[in-house]
Amino acid sequence: MNFHVCTLFPEMIHQGCQASILGRAVIKQKITVETTDIRDFSTNKHMKVDDYPYGGGAGMVMQAEPVYAACRHVKDRLGENTRVIYLTPQGRVFNQEMAEEFSREENLIFLCGHYEGIDERVLEEVVTDYVSIGDYVLTGGELPAMVMIDAIARLVPGVLNNDVSADIESFHDNLLEYPQYTRPPVWHEKEVPPVLLSGHHANIEKWRYEQSVQRTAKWRPDLLEKHRKNNEK
Ligand code: ADE
Repeated sequence: MNFHVCTLFPEMIHQGCQASILGRAVIKQKITVETTDIRDFSTNKHMKVDDYPYGGGAGMVMQAEPVYAACRHVKDRLGENTRVIYLTPQGRVFNQEMAEEFSREENLIFLCGHYEGIDERVLEEVVTDYVSIGDYVLTGGELPAMVMIDAIARLVPGVLNNDVSADIESFHDNLLEYPQYTRPPVWHEKEVPPVLLSGHHANIEKWRYEQSVQRTAKWRPDLLEKHRKNNEK
């Protein structure tokens, strides 16, 4: 799967995507992460890409033309139907279901804004999806793009070593993950729950499911509600 990011800070994306599992996924050629520097498409001799907002107000607004030219450049290569995701606190709030949906695409383009935003007219022409990563305001779209790339990439077959683990963890079927333990069996006088040492797989599965339900009830009752609805006959 190919991720393409249009940004004023390409180095942020490259640095963020070269470590750990994403970095390995790139080396294994399961994903590619490329960037287009919007500044390269400035029409201004000082390479400026922003200007004062019409109507006044604080901050600067990214101009339509450099953003348009950058997105066009990428779309010409990846295809006209490639989805363009604009990261904005005004978008639909990202969740696991959206990660799954986006992971079915072959190519995705992320558009990162800065300053007080991007001229509305270019957004109307190029953006297919407006996505927020939560109800708080960040200084730009790069971190949200990386959050989305991470969540989507790990669903791509072969990115995680263990193909089942993407399925069974937190948010699968709207339940939080059960607690995990590893050696030693006693640490700070705390024992690993005996059922996990029993080797009885049916009992282990039942215990884990109960733990998931208990945790979800305690920490995310909103999710448990959804889980119950989905599992009603
Ligand atoms: N840009 C600034 N804040 C953001 C957020 N919360 N989600 C997505 N993009 C953003």
